[in-house]
Amino acid sequence: MSELVSYQRNGSVGVITIENPPVNALGAGVRKGLVDCLAKGNADAEAAVLVLIGGGRTFPAGADITEFGKPMAEPDLNAVITAYESSGKMVVAAIHGTALGGGLELALGCDYRCASSNANVGLPEVKLGILPGAGGTQRLPRLIGAEAALKMIVSGDMVKASDAHGTGIVDHIVDGELVVGAVAFAQSLIDEGKPRRRISDMTVTAPAELFEGFAKSIARSARGFKAPFACIESVRAAVDMAFDDGMANERRLFVECVGSPESKGQRHMFFAEREAAKIPDVPKDTPTRDIASAGIIGAGTMGGGIAMNFANAGIPVTLLEVNQEALDKGLSIIAKNYANTVKKGRLSQDAMDKRMALISGTQDYADLANADIVIEAVFEGMELKKEIFTKLDEVCKPGAILATNTSTLDVNEIAAVTKRPEDVIGTHFFSPANVMKLLEIVRAEKTAKDVVATTMKLSRTIRKVGVLVGVCDGFVGNRMLHDYFREAQCLVEEGALPQQVDRVLYDWGFAMGPFAVMDLAGIDVGWRIRKEQAATRDKNLPYPSTVADRLAEQGRFGQKTGKGWYLYEEGSRTPKPDPEVEKMILQVSGEKGISRRAISDEEIFKRCMYQLVNAGANILDEGIALRSGDIDVIYIYGYGFPVYRGGPMFHADQIGLKSVYEDVCKFKEAQGAFWKPAPLLKRLADEGKGFSDL
Ligand code: CAA
Repeated sequence: MSELVSYQRNGSVGVITIENPPVNALGAGVRKGLVDCLAKGNADAEAAVLVLIGGGRTFPAGADITEFGKPMAEPDLNAVITAYESSGKMVVAAIHGTALGGGLELALGCDYRCASSNANVGLPEVKLGILPGAGGTQRLPRLIGAEAALKMIVSGDMVKASDAHGTGIVDHIVDGELVVGAVAFAQSLIDEGKPRRRISDMTVTAPAELFEGFAKSIARSARGFKAPFACIESVRAAVDMAFDDGMANERRLFVECVGSPESKGQRHMFFAEREAAKIPDVPKDTPTRDIASAGIIGAGTMGGGIAMNFANAGIPVTLLEVNQEALDKGLSIIAKNYANTVKKGRLSQDAMDKRMALISGTQDYADLANADIVIEAVFEGMELKKEIFTKLDEVCKPGAILATNTSTLDVNEIAAVTKRPEDVIGTHFFSPANVMKLLEIVRAEKTAKDVVATTMKLSRTIRKVGVLVGVCDGFVGNRMLHDYFREAQCLVEEGALPQQVDRVLYDWGFAMGPFAVMDLAGIDVGWRIRKEQAATRDKNLPYPSTVADRLAEQGRFGQKTGKGWYLYEEGSRTPKPDPEVEKMILQVSGEKGISRRAISDEEIFKRCMYQLVNAGANILDEGIALRSGDIDVIYIYGYGFPVYRGGPMFHADQIGLKSVYEDVCKFKEAQGAFWKPAPLLKRLADEGKGFSDL
């Protein structure tokens, strides 16, 4: 018998325990062990009933995702679940931790389920671009009804066991030690003569409109994804078909999804996100500093959003502003944001009050003296930031982490004004900071390892995905974005229009096209930076920002002024093409002697995407990003890159770097100036490798 699963008897209850840390994933060895131990339990004359439980921290959290795409060793999970469902003796699943995916499906193959009250259950497969492939789409609707099953399966969200109690998913909540409670529950079922229960024998009905309505309701949010629609189709089969036919249909859809590029991208993202948390020279056991209080400098949009992250995590935070008016304004915006969430029913008034009580305002640096971390979030200006860090160095207690929320500036230069550069780090939040999941954590030359470890840990505490990057202009995300925006503007000067460029990238899956993003972020931002850098600009290079400059000169700053690359009607965020802008573009092309040409969608896509990839390759080569997967995580969580494409670097690997490199060389021939093939891209292309081989 496999040592991953063991069988023991407790009185007249046989207990089957899975021991496959960390999450008891249902890999080949576990599946075999489950069948072997079931046979052992059924053969044990002293056992009247069987309990199935996970050892360690959880009931199985699903199939072993690393096995996807490889030949499946026998028995497959469906065979295991069928064996449990047709077991000679009643089986009771005992759930703690997270019973997810194949784990919950296994529990649904048991007669009854009990759980610790703080356990969670769910079918998150849709988040990996697949559907529950071990009967979940057939058993769950039969158990809890089609509508409730659709909600769980299509969202992939977990449900607390205490909420699942009574729906049929959980029959009994165990207080105290699970195995003890589960054995007692199993014994009581036998004592009370409770019947066997096979979910596959149940039936479920629902009107066809339920499924059509559900598909319509997710059309926008699930744009470009395959799996949510496959989930709906499969749940519908639970209503329309006999169990065995529904299972065959589920299998067909599962196989289609698991082999799809969308699922490969989403699975890549699952592992890339977890990999990003690992820093090679900062081991897991690096001591971390306690973060029990925080200070934020600047109560503007960024500072306020960052403060909310801390309050949401239960950490008291002091917000500093230079004058009372700005402070009051910042605090009132935070209150308004929370109030909106309360209005939408996503937060209770009580929770809002508790969070607001954790946020205090001050104009006095001395009030930051005891903060464990202080994050400076004022506007981008080196001199101002240096002034602030000089003050922080004076007032903050020894060991406090001093962080800057810069999006471009040199963190080494900022750290150098303090006597403790080892305590200085960059924390680049994305706007709106209380919503966006990404946190670029910028490690400067002298940043101490425990400061890196603490900040990475803090990112999880405040529910962000932290990615460690090195110092360079724009770090990872904005440096790549700069080249992408520049190329989009070159395309417009050469013959495309903003709406064509945006349509191509939006249709491909980006949340927004580059021109719509520039309008959202504010055209004035880049304009100011360009003016500051005008003296040092390489005058031998073309200047593709002429149109953007003229828009800014006319006060067309984007959404905030109702006009930018597009027109925005009062109160609307929908971009409308503007003939005035088209006229301006044609004029600029004419002034520069460019004879405009029709540009294909394919050229637009490749030129924008390969600028991202080429910049990403340089960033990797310079060690600014640790792994290509880190860049993918940054683009997906920070820049609206579609998760089902797996990120720019993963996507380039899927295309093949040889082909990407050849196109980059072609663009260099045709467009020159801004196309310098990254040496790493060339090397990998020559070697027939991908970024993931690094
Ligand atoms: N297969 C393989 N490895 C898995 C895994 C799985 N299903 N779930 C987690 N892991 C690994 C992670 O990669 C990670 O490995 P490293 O330590 O080497 O990085 C380790 O287990 C711990 O995971 P987390 O860091 O994510 O731990 P956590 O405590 O933050 O979260 C969790 C635990 C909620 C279970 C989370 O890991 C998770 O959401 N896992 C995926 C659950 C899932 O999607 N299940 C469905 C699988 S598909 C399926 O079951 C198909 C089917 O129908 C047959």
